[in-house]
Amino acid sequence: MKKHRIIIDTDPGQDDAVAILLALASPEEIDVLGITCVAGNVPLELTSRNARMICELAGRPDMPVYSGCDRPLGRELVTAEHVHGKTGLDGPTLPEPQMPLQEPHAVDFIIGTLRAEPEGSITLCALGPLTNIAKALTRAPDIAGRIREIVLMGGAYFEVGNITPAAEFNIYVDPQAADIVFKSGIPIVVMPLDVTHRALVTAPRNDAFRAMGTAVGTAVAQMTEFFERFDKEKYGSAGAPLHDPCVTAWLIRPEIFSGRQINVEIETTSELTLGMTVADWWGVTDRPRNALFIGDLDADAFFGLLTERLARL
Ligand code: RIB
Ligand code: CA
Repeated sequence: MKKHRIIIDTDPGQDDAVAILLALASPEEIDVLGITCVAGNVPLELTSRNARMICELAGRPDMPVYSGCDRPLGRELVTAEHVHGKTGLDGPTLPEPQMPLQEPHAVDFIIGTLRAEPEGSITLCALGPLTNIAKALTRAPDIAGRIREIVLMGGAYFEVGNITPAAEFNIYVDPQAADIVFKSGIPIVVMPLDVTHRALVTAPRNDAFRAMGTAVGTAVAQMTEFFERFDKEKYGSAGAPLHDPCVTAWLIRPEIFSGRQINVEIETTSELTLGMTVADWWGVTDRPRNALFIGDLDADAFFGLLTERLARL
């Protein structure tokens, strides 16, 4: 099977961290060309710090990490320290990063890589607000036709919102950016809360992380133990929902996921429903079916894959 050559755009975030670790632990299927950071869960300075800490935890200080947009396209930044803690990576105690950020700006790296690499050979994996990707598409419209696929964590339909009654966090932070991406015509795979809320780190699953006895296994167990508070309290969940790792797991084992090719549009004006992903799951409109919207997964297969791969690091 052809390898996925990817750029990970991210706002770490404990779940982003697990998604990045899964990608770095899967060289047979995934070649990570670079990691671009965006403001989201916490401000850009912290997401750029956290991404490098995760690469060093994985033993990959060579991985190029770029700093991107520090605020959404058209509104003030909303962050989520109430979920991820003050640093965005609360839970484990990890050393400050030694590896430097790379030049240039993340948006220029995305544009430059897509122009330099063969057409249709690069997949963008978006784990945070879509600001960097939307800015790249706006500044360099020619790259849209060169992108193989965008696989993103964001949105919700049956699960409705996690930051407002109507909106999921990544889309809510930058709805204008999401609107640009969803209208771009680029093939999009969406991992909404509908599926990520079924990828819960229950106690036995977290025990399996800790039982690895490795720095990575222990750090992931500590991350999920911190990160689960919010969802356990709000939803009565059985554990932390691993939102972003659904994106990288899709690249490795798409068959454990199921969804529908439907129309998804973004609310960008109403204050009441700003950032809502209006998903035409039941096909009641003839709007273009612009996204593969994932609704379910085989959670045991997902955690089996995750545990097997993280144990490699
Ligand atoms: O709503 C969940 C998403 O928002 C995840 O990507 C999490 O990391 C935050 O970015
Ligand atoms: Ca994220």
